[in-house]
Amino acid sequence: MSKKILVTGGTGYIGSHTTVELLKSGYQVVAIDNLSNSKIEVLDGIKKIVGTAPEFHNVDLADKLATALFFDKQPNFDAIIHFAAYKAVGESVANPLMYYENNLSSLVNVLTAMAKHKIKNIVFSSSCTVYGQPDTLPVTELSPLKKADSPYGNTKQIAEDIIADSVRAFDIKAIALRYFNPIGAHASAQIGELPNGTPNNLVPFITQTAIGIRQELSVFGKDYNTEDGTAIRDYIHVCDLADAHIAAVNRLTENKTKHNFEIFNIGTGKGNSVLDIIKTFEQVNHLKLNYKIVDRRAGDIEKVWADTTFANQELGWTSNRTLEESLKSAWDWEKHLDT
Ligand code: UD1
Repeated sequence: MSKKILVTGGTGYIGSHTTVELLKSGYQVVAIDNLSNSKIEVLDGIKKIVGTAPEFHNVDLADKLATALFFDKQPNFDAIIHFAAYKAVGESVANPLMYYENNLSSLVNVLTAMAKHKIKNIVFSSSCTVYGQPDTLPVTELSPLKKADSPYGNTKQIAEDIIADSVRAFDIKAIALRYFNPIGAHASAQIGELPNGTPNNLVPFITQTAIGIRQELSVFGKDYNTEDGTAIRDYIHVCDLADAHIAAVNRLTENKTKHNFEIFNIGTGKGNSVLDIIKTFEQVNHLKLNYKIVDRRAGDIEKVWADTTFANQELGWTSNRTLEESLKSAWDWEKHLDT
């Protein structure tokens, strides 16, 4: 019988791409989401790609009672992938309690259900934001964590602590994946990133500018200590990120973990500047982007990219897709949204 996986935030950006890869790998998937930052139509996109959609439930995981009721009815999961969370850095600064309440109470409610129903495995969405500006690059999993710059980042650090304490207390194994910068969309252009309002992140802002929804992209800062003066990140194709979740679920459910709580960097190992991204986007998609240089954005770090050796060796996973593929798929998805 195929293994049954619960994907929280299943209609979200990374959740939907991971659901596709899980279904394609033969897993039975139950997706839950409160649709606060995603649309139910995402399920149609998944169905077009895989031929089948996951079982879906609209559940708000921050609602203790609703979460307990959901798990009481359906307690048998081989693993949970917990994506559901708010993720806008600026919004978290303006409204910190909303972030602590939503991101942390949902995790606590999920872990409570795991302990009660003896669900053994969880994969958690963490972020490279926990490293802040690392002292040395590339950044490994053993690098010290820096005090978080935003309540959003802090929820990821606290969540990792909550998980560490829970695996000590209960019969639970966990893998936290620290994502670098996910970009792009499924090659079919049936699913992708659906930003709510004005995008905060670089690539959706680029694609919306290229299609004419935004007039101009602002490049935040050209006085960083980098080759071209713009900030550097490790941009990873969202489908490569999805594949990392399959590797993590396999490792947990096949009892291959070496510790009850393992943490992996999920990036490409390569850094690209904001101008690199703009130039590559223009080249692969044969267009010109309207952009201007403005001041640095508050809270941004200068440069970060991953040392992925540990993930490559232990998870048996590597990122395969190129930056060109990522930026082409992002543009194909934006054009799909426009039709
Ligand atoms: C941020 C968070 C990350 C989080 C992610 C998800 C930090 C340090 N990073 O990533 O943890 O998972 O958001 O939302 O908290 N840029 C522009 N113009 C724009 C937009 C962005 O120049 O209009 C630049 C930024 O200054 C940055 C790069 O593009 O150098 C990437 O920005 P973005 O896509 O927002 O991601 P991060 O800030 O790296």
